[in-house]
Amino acid sequence: MLNLKLHSTVKPKENSSADFEAFVHTLTKNPEIGFFGLPNRTDLLEQSLAAYEKFKDKKTFIHIGIGGSALGPEMLLRALVPEKMNQFVFLNNIDPDDTKARLQNIQMKDAVVFVVSKSGTTAETVASMAIVLNLFHEQGLTEKDYTNHFVFCTDPVHGDFRKLGAEKNITCLDVPSNIGGRFSVLTPVGLFPALYAGINIKELLQGAADYQESVVNPAKNKDFINLGNLILELHNNHHVHQTVMMPYSSLLKEFSAWFVQLWAESLGKNGKGLTPIPAYGATDQHSQMQLFMEGPNDKMMFLIEVENFKTDYPLNNSFDASSFNLLRKFTLSELFKAEFSGSLKALQENNRPIAQLSIKELTAHTLGQLIIFSESLTVYMGELMKLDPFNQPGVEAGKKYAKEWLKTHRK
Ligand code: PA5
Repeated sequence: MLNLKLHSTVKPKENSSADFEAFVHTLTKNPEIGFFGLPNRTDLLEQSLAAYEKFKDKKTFIHIGIGGSALGPEMLLRALVPEKMNQFVFLNNIDPDDTKARLQNIQMKDAVVFVVSKSGTTAETVASMAIVLNLFHEQGLTEKDYTNHFVFCTDPVHGDFRKLGAEKNITCLDVPSNIGGRFSVLTPVGLFPALYAGINIKELLQGAADYQESVVNPAKNKDFINLGNLILELHNNHHVHQTVMMPYSSLLKEFSAWFVQLWAESLGKNGKGLTPIPAYGATDQHSQMQLFMEGPNDKMMFLIEVENFKTDYPLNNSFDASSFNLLRKFTLSELFKAEFSGSLKALQENNRPIAQLSIKELTAHTLGQLIIFSESLTVYMGELMKLDPFNQPGVEAGKKYAKEWLKTHRK
């Protein structure tokens, strides 16, 4: 199980049990909040499995989406099946030159195109879809082929993709209406690409369910509650307004990116917020770590430790020099352990507040736990900071003005 240890000289204040009760109520009883129920949504699992059966033989998986509709799937795939990333093409932005590079050599007849948009109206996603659709026709495929190549994932009722899906006989998977983009990774948004890539999604959902138990069970949730209370205390009374997410794992680099969106878009509002900073070890020890260590003491550090790796390399070799001799008897994963321990110790000596998260190994099960840990903590922080973690009025305002710009510049 995901192990959580706090290192801080600041002691968290006990918050009123009402805050925690309200949080648990939000997670388990509020019909407007759906992400906590996802491990039990067999209907969504079945939809994803049916789509997988239909499209599993395609050679290339093109994923179109932005923000919460892309970051979750990218995080899952990169963490669990890095060797399969070359089967995937992500159109997660609208840079024309990058789009060209990503679509180079794509044979549409061999591809499944997965278009994800909760709202079904996001301009960037619609634009990428338009480009892929043109390519589809340029390569000689026609409207009757849509059903064998496109899958939409969107709100069960609203939006253009739902409407077009019904009109054009395109498979439509659901993003339940009570789940927003950044909380959607365990819906078909993440499950369908994960299945295509051979990820064990039952284990992923089981990991999520197991950590949920640690969050709501009073016998198990002390550390989780203390962490939320500590972050609040540091934020309110010690000027700690930034959060560093730093897994010691290259495969969790995209987990940091996913966490950044979750934390920033959920908690940055009403003049409040905990600015998230993505990092990963050991690489960022040679970069941002100097600032984390000796810069302003305004950051809460989340360090993720992976205790065992599937692969390892002995470091013995034929060179005779002191730096090589030091490593000779160790393996690569032992060096990683040394780097992690070194950073932890030095950060502690500098009085930097740290949440140390340890997993035995990076698997679908432990990733499911990390996902629910992050989502639940985000919601708990929303409760403590008295703000709604599920809306994003700032993002919506930008979307609205971009559409207004298009209308006033209509050609
Ligand atoms: O988390 C969110 O709600 C956002 O980041 C959305 O995922 C993003 O704006 C894309 O929206 P949509 O899925 O509606 O296309």
